[in-house]
Amino acid sequence: MSAQLFEGKDHAALYQKHRFPPPKELLNIIFSYLEEKKGKPYDLAVDVGCGSGQSTQVLVPHFARVLGTDISEAQIQQAKQTHNSSQVSYCVCPAEALPVEDGSVDLLTAFVAAHWFDMQPFMRELERVLKPRGCVSLSTYSPKMRIRYGNCSEALTGIFRETQDVLNKYANEKIHVILSEYQEILDLVPFPDKKRVIFQGGEVSFTVAGLMGFLQSFSMFQTFKNAQPEAAEALLHQTQSRFLETMKVSSLETPLAIIFEYVCVLACKTPKEKVEP
Ligand SMILES: C[S@@+](CC[C@H](N)C(=O)[O-])C[C@H]1O[C@@H](n2cnc3c(N)ncnc32)[C@H](O)[C@@H]1O
Repeated sequence: MSAQLFEGKDHAALYQKHRFPPPKELLNIIFSYLEEKKGKPYDLAVDVGCGSGQSTQVLVPHFARVLGTDISEAQIQQAKQTHNSSQVSYCVCPAEALPVEDGSVDLLTAFVAAHWFDMQPFMRELERVLKPRGCVSLSTYSPKMRIRYGNCSEALTGIFRETQDVLNKYANEKIHVILSEYQEILDLVPFPDKKRVIFQGGEVSFTVAGLMGFLQSFSMFQTFKNAQPEAAEALLHQTQSRFLETMKVSSLETPLAIIFEYVCVLACKTPKEKVEP
């Protein structure tokens, strides 16, 4: 089910073009945690649900080897074409059956992806693949993003939210995991040493055209478009016109910014205490 939402080649191409890497603020949180809980050496990182590879690439400077995995062949194809280096490999496989040895992973990440996984088998897999003191980071941004542009930030945020309200009708049921700020995921992580961090994740620069592309990369937009192509096009066109009108500009290349709120579940696989006979 989740795989089908990201299968299309066109959708994967939209991903490649309009999705962005995890922000520095999030990476700092993850690497401070890893340093505190485990420390070097950092041999292997696995980025699960890596999509077209933006989130995998940021791990490369820190690890000897990085593996990006995704259930969608089209996404992995995009990742291989765009984000390749000798330290990275990619593979098509489900999050619930990773092609790595027991106890071999220093850091497992899932950026904007964990809510799609089949939770119980994924958590068992997490327990299997992490090294003792290995860490996991399951993070996403929330739909409560805000637009920043001159003195019309509030108006633009309002327009964006109205468009999101229309799209929400086409959201997959898993959206509730994001809306609960990953509470369900935090509860299910099978290690006692765990926490959740919620924070403003800085700004990402877009243009009006880029923002419309980002909107189209939402799985709920793709679901809407498959069901009602004309209505989806009309919604996009209307959103774009309202943005340009409110900003009092005509160029789709006019820059603006989105401010994201992030949630990140972090946990460390603490070695099981030996029970004396
Ligand atoms: C929203 S994208 C995030 C991609 C990337 N990590 C990023 O930060 O842009 C979610 C990805 O999770 C993948 N996915 C969904 N369910 C999956 C599963 N059960 N196993 C592996 N990947 C899965 C989808 O194919 C999709 O590429």
